[in-house]
Amino acid sequence: MTNIDLGRPVQGDVVDVILDDHRRFEALLRDLRDSSQDRDAVRHAFATLHVAHAEAEEKYVYPKLRRKHAVDEHEAEHGEEEHAEGNAALLKVLELKGTDTEAFADAVEELARVVNHHLTEEELTILNPARDEVGPQVRADLGEQFCTERNSQIDADCGSIDNVRRIVSAARKEGLLDEYEGRDDD
Ligand SMILES: [Fe+2]
Ligand SMILES: [Fe+2]
Repeated sequence: MTNIDLGRPVQGDVVDVILDDHRRFEALLRDLRDSSQDRDAVRHAFATLHVAHAEAEEKYVYPKLRRKHAVDEHEAEHGEEEHAEGNAALLKVLELKGTDTEAFADAVEELARVVNHHLTEEELTILNPARDEVGPQVRADLGEQFCTERNSQIDADCGSIDNVRRIVSAARKEGLLDEYEGRDDD
């Protein structure tokens, strides 16, 4: 479990609660670069929030936005691929022993690259259509579902290294990491 505060929203417009988490990701990435921080604690907090947030988006937000025709199949699938890539990059950060090594710095740099890319793309191609094409009642209902799933994932210690390993290997089997891991080889 993490003792870093990840917030505990229970309701709100789904776009707002997602954006609040995105700002938390950015703050945690900043702390992961800062050697004066307890970076072992920070990586576990990041893992918990990343898994909880992505699972809640995939379970409720993406499917609802697809049913409402706010996003298409390609955008939703691409989002899932980027979550899988974020989890794979995260697993590399978690698997390292120390946090003061060159390997840790490299793994954090890759995690930041993948996650920042996803936050930008999701805000542009998924949250903007959610704002423009889905009504406030649907966004409020989705916000509550998102928060409930997010918080119960956190309570279940979803960022444990065993759970992240499980999620990454399931994603690999589903082919969600083909492009990412293929690109690593060349
Ligand atoms: Fe997100
Ligand atoms: Fe996402």
